[in-house]
Amino acid sequence: MKERLVNSEEQENDNFENSLRPLSLDEYIGQDEIKENLRIFIEAAKMREESLDHVLLYGPPGLGKTTLAHIIANELGSNIKTASGPSLEKSGDLAAVLSTLEPGDVLFIDEIHRMPKFVEEILYPAMEDFELDIIIGTDGKSRSIKIDLPPFTLVGATTRAGDLSSPLRDRFGIVSKLNYYKAEELQEIVKRTGRVLNMKITDDAALEIAKRCRKTPRVANRLFKRVRDFALVKGEDTINHEITLDSLKRLKVDEYGLDQIDIEYLEALINKFNGGPVGVETIATAIGEEVTTIEDVVEPFLLQEGFIKRTQRGRLATEKAYEHLKVAKQEALF
Ligand SMILES: Nc1ncnc2c1ncn2[C@@H]1O[C@H](COP(=O)(O)OP(=O)(O)OP(=O)(O)O)[C@@H](O)[C@H]1O
Ligand SMILES: [Mg+2]
Repeated sequence: MKERLVNSEEQENDNFENSLRPLSLDEYIGQDEIKENLRIFIEAAKMREESLDHVLLYGPPGLGKTTLAHIIANELGSNIKTASGPSLEKSGDLAAVLSTLEPGDVLFIDEIHRMPKFVEEILYPAMEDFELDIIIGTDGKSRSIKIDLPPFTLVGATTRAGDLSSPLRDRFGIVSKLNYYKAEELQEIVKRTGRVLNMKITDDAALEIAKRCRKTPRVANRLFKRVRDFALVKGEDTINHEITLDSLKRLKVDEYGLDQIDIEYLEALINKFNGGPVGVETIATAIGEEVTTIEDVVEPFLLQEGFIKRTQRGRLATEKAYEHLKVAKQEALF
C-alpha cells in the first residue's frame, strides 16, 4: 500500500501513539454520548459488583477504539488482556487467552470481524455463560469438556460492523459507533498533544490542523508531529499559524485534508468513469488500491464530507467533488 500522510490506519512507526493515549474518560475528548453512557454502565457494574456487559466499538480507523478499550479497563479498575482477530487462528489460541482471564478482566479483541468462524463459535458460550466448551481428542474418541470461566468483559473493536455475524453482534450488551470528530474537538486533541509532547502551539494553528485531518485524531496527531519538525528546523519554539500553513502546503495536505489517494479516487471516478455510477472494484483496480482500503478508509470520509454518494448501481461523484477538482461537469450530449 502507498505511504500516506493522512492515512488514518495504524502504521508501524506509531509507537508514539501510546504515549498520547488519554487514560480516563475525562481526558478522552469528544464522543460525548458514548462517554456518558459508558460512565453510567461502568458505575452501575461497579455498584452491582458484576462485570460490565460486553462492549462492541465500531467505526473508521484512528477514531479512538483501542484507546477507549484501555480506558474502559482503567475506569473499571481491571486488567486488560489483548488479542486480535487475525491472530486467533485456531480454537486453541482463543481458549488459551480465555483461560488466563481473572474475575472482572477486560478482554480486548481488535479487528474482531477477522476471527475465523469456528473460533468465533467458542466465544458464544464464553460471552453468554462464562463457559469454555472445548473438544479434546480426535475424531473417534473426541469428547467435549466444559470449563467455567470467571466473569469478564469482552471489548471488541472493528472497522466493519457489517462483517460481524449476527450471533456474535447480538451477544454484545453495549454497541457503540464512533463518529468523526468536530473541528473544535480535534483542536482540543491537538492542544493536548502539544502539552504531552511539550511543544507550544497557538489556537489558530491547532485549528488549522484540526480542519485538515480527515476528522480523525490519529491523523491530527501525525500532522502535529510533522508540523513540529518544520517548526523545530526553523528554530521556533511555538507552532504558529504561518508555519502550520506552510508545512501543510509542503506536505500536500489540501484544505479538506484530502490526500493523494482521495484525489486519485475522485479523479478516476470523474475522468475515467464520467462521475459514475461505477462499482468499487472497478475504481480500486483503476487506481491500484485494495478494495478493503477503499471501503474502510477512503470512502467513509468522502461520503461523510459529501464528495461521493453510494447508490445501488455504484459510486457517484457529487457537485462538491467536481468543484473540488475544478472539473466542469460534462453535460450529456444527447
Ligand atoms: N477522543 C480522543 N481524545 C484524545 N486522543 C484521541 C482520542 N481518540 C483517539 N485519540 C488518539 O488517536 C490515536 C489513535 O487512536 P486509536 O489507536 O485508539 O484508534 P483506533 O480507533 O483503535 O484505530 P484502528 O481502527 O486503526 O485500530 C491515539 O494515539 C490516541 O491518542
Ligand atoms: Mg485500534
